Amino acid sequence: MSIRHAAYPEWVFDNPRTALRGAATGLAGAAVLGVGYASLIERNAFTLREVTMPVLEPGSSSLRVLHLSDLHMMPGQKLKQNWLRELDRLEPDLVVNTGDNLSHLRAVPSVVQSMGGLLARPGLFVFGSNDYFGPKPKNPFKYFKKEHKRTFGEPLPWQDLRAAFTERGWLDVTHNRRELEVAGVRIATAGVDDPHLKRDRYDTIAGPPNPMANLKLGITHSPEPRVLDRFAEDGYDLVLAGHTHGGQLCLPFYGALVTNCQLDRSRVKGPSRWGSRMQLHVSAGIGTSPYAPARFCCRPEATLLTLVPTADKGPEQGVRPGVSRSSAVVR
Ligand SMILES: [Fe+2]
Repeated sequence: MSIRHAAYPEWVFDNPRTALRGAATGLAGAAVLGVGYASLIERNAFTLREVTMPVLEPGSSSLRVLHLSDLHMMPGQKLKQNWLRELDRLEPDLVVNTGDNLSHLRAVPSVVQSMGGLLARPGLFVFGSNDYFGPKPKNPFKYFKKEHKRTFGEPLPWQDLRAAFTERGWLDVTHNRRELEVAGVRIATAGVDDPHLKRDRYDTIAGPPNPMANLKLGITHSPEPRVLDRFAEDGYDLVLAGHTHGGQLCLPFYGALVTNCQLDRSRVKGPSRWGSRMQLHVSAGIGTSPYAPARFCCRPEATLLTLVPTADKGPEQGVRPGVSRSSAVVR
């Protein structure tokens, strides 16, 4: 006697091999569709995210900051270049670039040309590993090990990119403390070299920033907790970082699988609080490595941050760590 379930058609039981083959074909088709969507559609679905963050001294005027990160530019990426060119129409007061601009030896002109208008505005930058070294194929499962062995490609012309940025007036804050005034807001800023490469030397910029500044702004490529702790101890209001790519391949209702650093998954992209009063913003970035050209549930993004005054600069009450009072809109 055989027992047959009413939910399955007869042929499932009469031809089990055919049923298995059908299921395998279905799964393979879904996988092909998923890979096609992630690599052809979502990877190029460039998005502007808008976030309001209360981080300025009370009484300050607001400041619009365009946060760019992880362009991973290749010379032929016209969609990305055209989208970047349009960002100048946002007329930000300040542009902050948190590194990983290059994925090719000859990509510097593409970066400079597509950011042309933005380079005429006040700007700050640090570099990441993908400004110094070219991409290399990697085993994707290595990203699940937090302390995996790093492999680097050929040296990239970061000196040319640095010269292009600084000639147009952008400030390299790598191991530098700088002060500037933008749109009536006094900014005390400092940055570190890429912690992902263990090049960060926080002691070179250590110490409290100018207390007269309306905004104390820290900048790093990788949001490593050891660096965030130092900025927080010194009294910085806000740290901007990139590197995580927002997890790049995320699961619906779960989010990022990895952050590619020691940061916890809850802060992999967007605003969050670090310590009792410092705010953190992590960009999900605009590009990907050419050897992992896919994004899923994690669109490429630039962020327009509107920084506004806090009502009270004391410790926030009743807000659990990792949750920011900031608000975000995605376009
Ligand atoms: Fe990156």
